[in-house]
Amino acid sequence: MAQDRQSWAIKDEAIYEDLVQLMNLTSEDINLLKELYPEAEKRVREMTDDFYSRLFAHEMTKEYFEGKDMEYLHKMIGNWFLDLFRGNYDQDYVKQRLRIGHIHVKIGLPVRYPLAMIDIINAHGEKIAETGSNPEKAKEAVQKVTALDIAIFNQAYEDNQLNHLVELVGNERLARRLLQGLG
Ligand code: HEM
Repeated sequence: MAQDRQSWAIKDEAIYEDLVQLMNLTSEDINLLKELYPEAEKRVREMTDDFYSRLFAHEMTKEYFEGKDMEYLHKMIGNWFLDLFRGNYDQDYVKQRLRIGHIHVKIGLPVRYPLAMIDIINAHGEKIAETGSNPEKAKEAVQKVTALDIAIFNQAYEDNQLNHLVELVGNERLARRLLQGLG
């Protein structure tokens, strides 16, 4: 028999706080990331070039960019990357990144594609961390904030699926059971 979970009651704005609490970024993490901001700024274009090189080399992902202003997208993802090093990981930060996740839901992009890009973000994050005062700790901090982004991307997709299923079947409990694979 399926058990109801406390996490099911966490919705909307409460999700931002739930994730912030779970990740528990310490003041040390925050300071290490902030310290890296100038270096991240220097390397941001290298990161966005690698990012779009991969997506343009694959037919399935390339087609999403037809007719798009690529300079604008370099800037947008560059800002998203730099925000990792601004030292502010509050509920507004989660909300803003969840909004970006929802933009990807709306363009019909399978979630595997954004998630498969995290290694590029991490690789550049790690190179940047190596220039800091405590590289090992800084690398861990980078991984923490990018893990938060994995959670956020998934959340955007799950919100969408759950909402539609609730509309279809009429109640959330049944929708959750269906998503669990239970009848
Ligand atoms: C880590 C993964 C990713 C991040 C962080 C990311 C980030 C962003 C950001 C910040 C924007 C601008 C949103 C805005 O207008 O405010 C954007 C737009 C967009 N992204 Fe991504 N993205 C990711 C993965 C992908 C992938 C894998 C694809 C396609 C294969 C993709 C396709 C697009 C497209 C087409 C837009 C423009 C949407 C529109 O305005 O019509 N993104 N992305």
